[in-house]
Amino acid sequence: MQFQSLPGFREFYPDACALRNHIFGQWKQVARAFNFQEYDAPVLEPLELYIEKSGEEIVGQLFSFEDRGGRSVALRPEMTPSLARLIGAKANSLKRPIKWFNIGEHYRYEKPQKGRLRAFYQFNVDIFGEAGPAADAELIALLVQALRAFGLDSKDFKVRLSDRDLWLLILTAEGLDEDGSATVLGIIDKLERTAREQTVEKLAQVLGEGAAAFLDRIEEVIAIRDFDALSAYISNLSLEGDVAEQAKQRLDDWKALLSGLESSGAGDFIHIDLGIVRGLAYYTGFVFEAFEASGEGRALAGGGRYDALVKKLGGPEMSAVGFAMGDVTLVDLLESKNRLPSYVQSPDFIAIIGGTEARDAALSDAALLRSMGYCVDYPLKNQGFGKQFKEANQKGARFALIYGTDELAKGVVKIRDFSTGVEQEFPREALAVTAQELMAFGFPETQK
Ligand code: HAM
Repeated sequence: MQFQSLPGFREFYPDACALRNHIFGQWKQVARAFNFQEYDAPVLEPLELYIEKSGEEIVGQLFSFEDRGGRSVALRPEMTPSLARLIGAKANSLKRPIKWFNIGEHYRYEKPQKGRLRAFYQFNVDIFGEAGPAADAELIALLVQALRAFGLDSKDFKVRLSDRDLWLLILTAEGLDEDGSATVLGIIDKLERTAREQTVEKLAQVLGEGAAAFLDRIEEVIAIRDFDALSAYISNLSLEGDVAEQAKQRLDDWKALLSGLESSGAGDFIHIDLGIVRGLAYYTGFVFEAFEASGEGRALAGGGRYDALVKKLGGPEMSAVGFAMGDVTLVDLLESKNRLPSYVQSPDFIAIIGGTEARDAALSDAALLRSMGYCVDYPLKNQGFGKQFKEANQKGARFALIYGTDELAKGVVKIRDFSTGVEQEFPREALAVTAQELMAFGFPETQK
């Protein structure tokens, strides 16, 4: 019987692994460029960590079970609750702002489909201990750079920027209390995927008769695309006292965020779009999601502020902002934009071996070159020269190290440069230096 992997779980053959390594490599490089430090956390966590903290949608998708010790556990569907716990536990000894990243696998029992699997990788990037919009700007700039690193530009992707704080102000002006606002934000989150009548029906449960007119006003807000229009809309809200002051301050935060993004070169990618509110329960301020430029398909990345989560998990008061980018939608995008690199995983040297005595010499030289960090291969079975050369060529080797009876007798190894076909003998005792020179400059005749 042929066993199969579970639905939504991928197997990574070497080509797929090379692509995955390439993606992880770019993510890591960008995180380092922004001076973020890498951390890690358990894959299996107490179920409780996700109940309420992550929100209904994710809890409904958990891979959860009881372990042999009777504990309710879950495979991590996301990193944020674990990270908030890690930070909370050491908050006092960590130097702020805390800038951390992780690349790891996550698990959600979703219906496998384009852009959605049950096991996927995320690049999580978060900043703790900085409440001002400079932290939001830094993260969104990093998000933009992480996509640009793959050769994508503003024709390929955009970042939709929104703000739960502004929404709360707008909903307060509409007369809604905290609970009502939370319910309405949940409905706005699903707006794009829900028929209008159904949305009105859901809103009517909170608002009664005025639901349809209310939705018209919500849609007006969602249609806003520039800061001046947003600013005018908020300034015209009937807000009083402290709330009016909050609204004014929030617009100043927006100005600071947008100007920070502009200066970092991310301005072209930013689209103001209050249609984004984010489904996870813990977001508190600016929220954002990255999409393919036309808006098609599932999000490439999502994140925002979550200033209350560290405390909710038993830590001190600690502001936080972060995002996660997934590998599945990223690879789909790179494929559709013809940005998938072609990988050449080829050896630097391949030994061509003529007989048992030659094999001893080849293995000893291979050991030396490998200890120097070069990629060296040789046939495991004795084969004719012709077949060995053919295979060395197929493997894309840069140089062949040829060990025949004549070469052995002379104490030399004949080296062929596959790119030019040139062959030359070199003393075996100086192979280490020869290898370094060949890898750096090629054959002496071809030196420039
Ligand atoms: P999220 O929006 O649930 O946010 O996921 C972030 C990204 O992970 C998505 O945009 C998508 O690329 C990828 N992703 C999520 N689910 C799947 C799936 N089933 N298959 C493939 N890819 C998927 C979070 O997880 C937040 N914890 C992000 C965050 C970090 N917020 C603050 N810090």
